[in-house]
Amino acid sequence: MNASPEDIARAAALLRAGELVALPTETVYGLGADASSPQAVAKIFAAKGRPADHPLIVHLADADSMIHWAREIPKEAIALARAFWPGPLTLILKKESDVSDIVTGGQDTVGLRVPDHPVALALLRAFSSDGGGIAAPSANRFGRISPTTAQHVADDLGNAVGMILDGGACQVGIESTILDLSRGEPVILRPGMIGVDAIAAVIGRRPRLPQQTENAPRVSGALAAHYAPRTPMQIADSDQLRNIPHDSAVLAFSLDKPEDHAGIWIRSSNKAAEYAHDLYANLRALDASRAPNIVVEEIPATPEWDAVCDRLGRAVVGSGTA
Ligand code: TXA
Ligand code: MG
Repeated sequence: MNASPEDIARAAALLRAGELVALPTETVYGLGADASSPQAVAKIFAAKGRPADHPLIVHLADADSMIHWAREIPKEAIALARAFWPGPLTLILKKESDVSDIVTGGQDTVGLRVPDHPVALALLRAFSSDGGGIAAPSANRFGRISPTTAQHVADDLGNAVGMILDGGACQVGIESTILDLSRGEPVILRPGMIGVDAIAAVIGRRPRLPQQTENAPRVSGALAAHYAPRTPMQIADSDQLRNIPHDSAVLAFSLDKPEDHAGIWIRSSNKAAEYAHDLYANLRALDASRAPNIVVEEIPATPEWDAVCDRLGRAVVGSGTA
């Protein structure tokens, strides 16, 4: 059920009062707080169990609001905002001096994006008319699978949030592409459904993909163990998939469930966008089945699958820890 105008007015009032509100975006649900209030933002870290040196993305109602948060707005940022906002792209820019350390994790940069979801945009407009922002990480416990429905948020964080705005299932389904424009050369810090080619087509040069070690301390999404199910998870090619234990929980790509397979078997779409849309709900369903292990069939190694491949790799590394 979608949030009503009354729900949005109440959520905006809660944010102004320094409380947390979970909100839908087109990527995943976010756990939001008034980005200009360090006390309010501190509640996000407490609710998530997230280390306090991890920076948060500030969500804005429109691209014009960037000037309240960023000290330098390069031409490439303006071109990308025009091309992709509202949408699943986060830009890292040099921060304005009054942006609080708790939002930026003490760095001299800030992450900004305009989300493409009617409920998120309505909330942003109701909350602030003067460029104010909502700081929001994904609304899951730290290191766990990101939520793509209001029910996922309630399952993970229930009591810790003042209010959960329901906006249905998230359209994109995995987190935004993060592009760092603060260091001269554009660098992708986290792949997402807006890929390198789409970005290069707008700015006329290809962003670099960072070395693992270089961005590890800066981007929590870059920690190897992230987005993780509790059940041990592995990737298998289609041959290996024919020889797994019969009670495994399976996310298949090309193979239908064999008749003698006893565990849950989900055959996902072979289109990257649809696969991404369903990915986190599928991982949650496999995790909840209480199978001894999760097996995910290998996906194509082509650029359109980069973001999904990234999330699956991290889920494997982080899996199996209660
Ligand atoms: O799609 C998304 O981006 C979702 C929705 C809610 O907008 N948000 C999200 O937030 O994924 P979170 O906190 O789970 O991941 C944000 C990532 C973190 O890995 C954080 O380290 C990085 O963005 N980040 C934020 N500000 C940064 C900065 N100034 N420099 C480098 N990385 C930054
Ligand atoms: Mg997250």
